[in-house]
Amino acid sequence: MKGVVLAGGTGSRLFPLTKITNKHLLPIYDRPMIYFPIQTLVDAGIRDILIVTGGRNSGDFLRLLANGKQFGLNHINYTYQEGEGGIADALGLAEHFADGHKICVVLGDNIIEGSIAAAAARFREQSLGAHLLLKEVPDAERFGVAEVSDGAIVGIEEKPSEPKSNYAVTGIYMYDATVFDKIKTLVPSHRGELEITDVNNAYLREGSMTFSFLEGWWTDAGTFDSLLRATNLVAQSTHRKPAPGNGTEGATAEGAGGI
Ligand code: DAU
Repeated sequence: MKGVVLAGGTGSRLFPLTKITNKHLLPIYDRPMIYFPIQTLVDAGIRDILIVTGGRNSGDFLRLLANGKQFGLNHINYTYQEGEGGIADALGLAEHFADGHKICVVLGDNIIEGSIAAAAARFREQSLGAHLLLKEVPDAERFGVAEVSDGAIVGIEEKPSEPKSNYAVTGIYMYDATVFDKIKTLVPSHRGELEITDVNNAYLREGSMTFSFLEGWWTDAGTFDSLLRATNLVAQSTHRKPAPGNGTEGATAEGAGGI
C-alpha cells in the first residue's frame, strides 16, 4: 500500500498565520505539522509516500523534507494542486502515483497519538473497497459524521448542524484503486469543493466500506483552537520522541518512530 499526505488548501481559517506560509509548515510544539501525517504512514510500514501541496510555499516542503531521510525514507514524491478545489480534488492528483495500488491517505493537519498499523494491516487483506477510521468526539458538527447502525456505517454527512452520532470520520482514509474513478464522478459542493465525504458515500453505496475506531487521542489543527489543542496534546504526550532530524537524534528509522 502506498501513502498520500494532502497538504494543499489555503488554510484560510488560520489567517494571518497562513498568509505567508503553508498551514502544514506551522509548528506543532517541536516540529512542523507535516511531520505528523508522514510519521503516521511510516509507522504503518508505508514507505512510498506522495505529498500533495500547493500555493506559494510548495518549494519549502522540498527544502524541509528533501528525500525523507529523517523518517528513514530514501525518497519522497511531490505533486502540486492548482487552487484549492477540495480534499478529493487534491487526492485526484495521486492517480499516476498510485498506479493501481491501494492507498492510505492522511490529511496534512491530522495528528494522532497512536498507530494505524493494525488497520493498515487489515486493509491490506481486504480485497476491495475502503476503510475509515472513526473517533468519538464532543464536537461532531465540525467534521464528517458517520451514522452507525448494527455495526455498519449507514451514512456520512459533512459538517451536519445536527449530527446523527458523535463519530467523526478522521482524516485517515484507505482506498482501493477505484477511488480515482469515483473522484471523476463528483460535482463541487455548495462550498465549491470536491468533498471526500462524497467519495466515502460512493463506497458506502457500493457496500464495500469497512471501518474501525482509532485508539488514542486524535485532533486536526486547522483552526486556532485545534492548533493550540494539538500543540498541548503533543507537548503533554508521555511517549513523544525527539523530532526526527532535529540535529541530536532521530535521523534513523528507529529514532524517528512515534510522536
Ligand atoms: O479532519 C477530519 C475532517 O477533515 C473530516 O472529518 C471531514 O470530513 C473532511 O472534510 C475534513 O474537514 P475540514 O473542513 O477540516 O478539511 P480542511 O478543508 O481543513 O482540509 C483538511 C486538509 O486537507 C488540509 O489540511 C489539507 C488538505 N486539503 C484541503 C483542501 C480544501 C488539500 O490538500 N486541498 C484542498 O483543496
